[in-house]
Amino acid sequence: MSPLQTITLSLFITFLSFHFSLGFYIQDKHIQTRLMSPNHEQHFGFMMRRSRTHMSQGMVNVDHYGAIANDGRDDTEAFEKAWIEACSRGAILVVPQRSVYHLKPITFKGSCQPNTAFKVYGTIKAWPHMSAYEKDRQRWIMFDSITNLVVDGGGIIDGNGRKWWQNSCKVNRSLPCKKAPTAVTFYQCNNLQVKNLRFKNAQQMHVRFQKCFNVRASNLLVKAPGNSPNTDGIHITETQNMIISNSVIGTGDDCISIVSGSKNIRAIDITCGPGHGISIGSLGAGNLEAEVSNVVVNRAMLTGTTNGVRIKTWQGGRGYAKDIKFMNMSMRNVTNPIIIDQNYCDQEEPCQVQESAVALSNVVYQNIKGTSASEVAIKFVCSKTVPCKGIYMQDVILRREDGDGVSATCENVRFANRGRFYPQCSSG
Ligand SMILES: *[C@@H]1O[C@H](CO)[C@@H](O)[C@H](O)[C@H]1NC(C)=O
Ligand SMILES: *[C@@H]1O[C@H](CO)[C@@H](O)[C@H](O)[C@H]1NC(C)=O
Ligand SMILES: *[C@@H]1O[C@H](CO)[C@@H](O)[C@H](O)[C@H]1NC(C)=O
Repeated sequence: MSPLQTITLSLFITFLSFHFSLGFYIQDKHIQTRLMSPNHEQHFGFMMRRSRTHMSQGMVNVDHYGAIANDGRDDTEAFEKAWIEACSRGAILVVPQRSVYHLKPITFKGSCQPNTAFKVYGTIKAWPHMSAYEKDRQRWIMFDSITNLVVDGGGIIDGNGRKWWQNSCKVNRSLPCKKAPTAVTFYQCNNLQVKNLRFKNAQQMHVRFQKCFNVRASNLLVKAPGNSPNTDGIHITETQNMIISNSVIGTGDDCISIVSGSKNIRAIDITCGPGHGISIGSLGAGNLEAEVSNVVVNRAMLTGTTNGVRIKTWQGGRGYAKDIKFMNMSMRNVTNPIIIDQNYCDQEEPCQVQESAVALSNVVYQNIKGTSASEVAIKFVCSKTVPCKGIYMQDVILRREDGDGVSATCENVRFANRGRFYPQCSSG
């Protein structure tokens, strides 16, 4: 990163923390003004009154709109009604504890009054019959165009994906390839917080952030079997200014994937595995233009994943991925701990050789230690016509899990500075 970019990023983070704390401060002050009686109240009494008022005016419990927990029946309509109420009042939609609700595809749409929130204390489970998804096979739950939304509560969002996996062409080769739903999509949400939630067994991707701006995602637990197809943990697309922190992700695909249109993304304290690792891309499929910049992954632990940190682009793409930093990571038995693959090809027919490529530049690998499950611990396979530029390695040390040797493959790479790294390139 250039000094200017570093400064911009720190400014953005400062702004974000300031913004959030200020937001909460204003909210508290507002409540206080509203509730303060003429007599001087004891602090404790004030707290009590505040929470009571909060309960009666600010909560919309799905049970009061016809949802019936734990009966296996469809609660979609009740959730729709509760959402309309919460959204129009700026209230908190509550999914109660120790309760399981079933939803068909559903959209929680904005815009909403300020302070609208969504609290999942219990479990939301996907409707099991695939026929309910025929209208739009790509989505299950969608939050659409909501500003200042908070989604949290400590509960579970369960995609109930087993049937979808069995019907995937990646699992059963005799079946046609069809789309499958992303469990939760946040679309065009600005100033969004998603925290303290568990996502599991998504039909396909677990959580997708699309066209969002200013996002904080934290304390998320995402779990699906290592062999469940395309079940990415957190997918970030066309999204800017996002911090994801303190999250544990283990699925059958990328733990985190960051694709085109994304900028100013930070991932901090991520535990990943099983799965395909932390990915930028794939980019440039179908000869498309891709733009990704300012991505920092700091402090991650990857265990038993097929990749550690990966940048993957298709031949024939255009645009760029630049100013990317991977630092302070530990890898345990990762098949490809560090990989750039500019010949990525995830389709049935073999990919044609093409000249153009998404240009990769200014990629920093710093303080990455651990073990590789395969011999090639560092693999840079860059485009011949558009080589990778400004690759920087410092304190990268990878050994073989089983004690055998390791090597590095480096094709069409231009290093900015060959800092300390092992294994060194055997080619390129
Ligand atoms: C794969 O799909 C075919 C066609 O629907 C089906 O007959 C077969 O039982 C499936 N195989 C498995 C292993 O599920
Ligand atoms: C992370 O990496 C940077 C640069 O290598 C270093 O200055 C910092 O102390 C590291 N540790 C943490 C906990 O961020
Ligand atoms: C390392 O990974 C390989 C393949 O991914 C696996 O076969 C092996 O059992 C793993 N070793 C350990 C010690 O976990």
